[in-house]
Amino acid sequence: MQFEGLSAVVSGGAGGLGGATARRLVELGMGVVVFEPEADRAHAFTQELGANAVYVPGDHNDDAAVQRAIAEAQRIGMFCINVNAAGVAINSPPTASIDGTPHDMQIFRDMVELHLFGPFNMSRLCAAAFALNKPDEDGQRGVIINTASTAAFDGQARQAAYSASKSGIVGLTMAMARDLAEIGVRACAIAPGPILTPRLAGAPEALKAALIGNVAFPKRFGRAEEYASLVEAILRTPFLNGQTIRLDGAMSTPLTSMAGAPAPK
Ligand SMILES: NC(=O)c1ccc[n+]([C@@H]2O[C@H](COP(=O)([O-])OP(=O)(O)OC[C@H]3O[C@@H](n4cnc5c(N)ncnc54)[C@H](O)[C@@H]3O)[C@@H](O)[C@H]2O)c1
Repeated sequence: MQFEGLSAVVSGGAGGLGGATARRLVELGMGVVVFEPEADRAHAFTQELGANAVYVPGDHNDDAAVQRAIAEAQRIGMFCINVNAAGVAINSPPTASIDGTPHDMQIFRDMVELHLFGPFNMSRLCAAAFALNKPDEDGQRGVIINTASTAAFDGQARQAAYSASKSGIVGLTMAMARDLAEIGVRACAIAPGPILTPRLAGAPEALKAALIGNVAFPKRFGRAEEYASLVEAILRTPFLNGQTIRLDGAMSTPLTSMAGAPAPK
């Protein structure tokens, strides 16, 4: 795949995984739209990336903002790549507490809106734009990469909403790949284990050691650059489609959540 002249929208593009991806795509010669709500951080980051990167502020559930990001990507290149790496670490309450309190539904809705609705909204609007592209020699018009999590397969205590959202990403990835086959657009997802991004960097040392303890090999946190490398590998491998790829050092998942919630008895 020739990357020069192509362009991408990276949602969560000034975050840990999104930022490493935006940097990699720029290094490959692409134009990149960093799509993000965090203006100060995103402005500084986009400037650091140089003239081939543009910042468009916005939320991935805001159609008008997403369309602005798409229009900007079409201005700076042949827009055919969308990587969605937005999200925030939020702990959920248990499904029901020992005092008889049920899980707050608004927390559940907010989590699903952020981690599942947003990536799907990006995917559908970007795919619609890709449909009008001239196909390459393989008939390909675009590639969409979403971000799941190992929690999609192995949800821990206090992760009902997060885990459900990430399982949703796995499910929609194959369905979208089949939906979008007729317009020549691929859809894949990456399911990271613990990757040392800013969201984890500030965690207590004991928690970090516990997280690394669950990883089989290599015995360390994953690196955001490894996520970006996998994005590049997906882009370079046209026969790869519909799959969610774990990026987790063959980790196993304990019952308790990263927040250190007590194991269910
Ligand atoms: N880092 C990990 O260990 C890890 C593991 C598994 C899954 N993930 C998933 O990867 C994704 C990125 O994680 P990260 O570690 O890079 O987090 P991060 O906090 O470093 O970056 C996330 C970025 O998303 C942006 N964002 C938040 N809400 C947004 C919205 N509504 N629209 C657009 N952008 C928005 C934030 O401003 C932030 O820059 C998340 O979906 C997360 O669940 C991360």
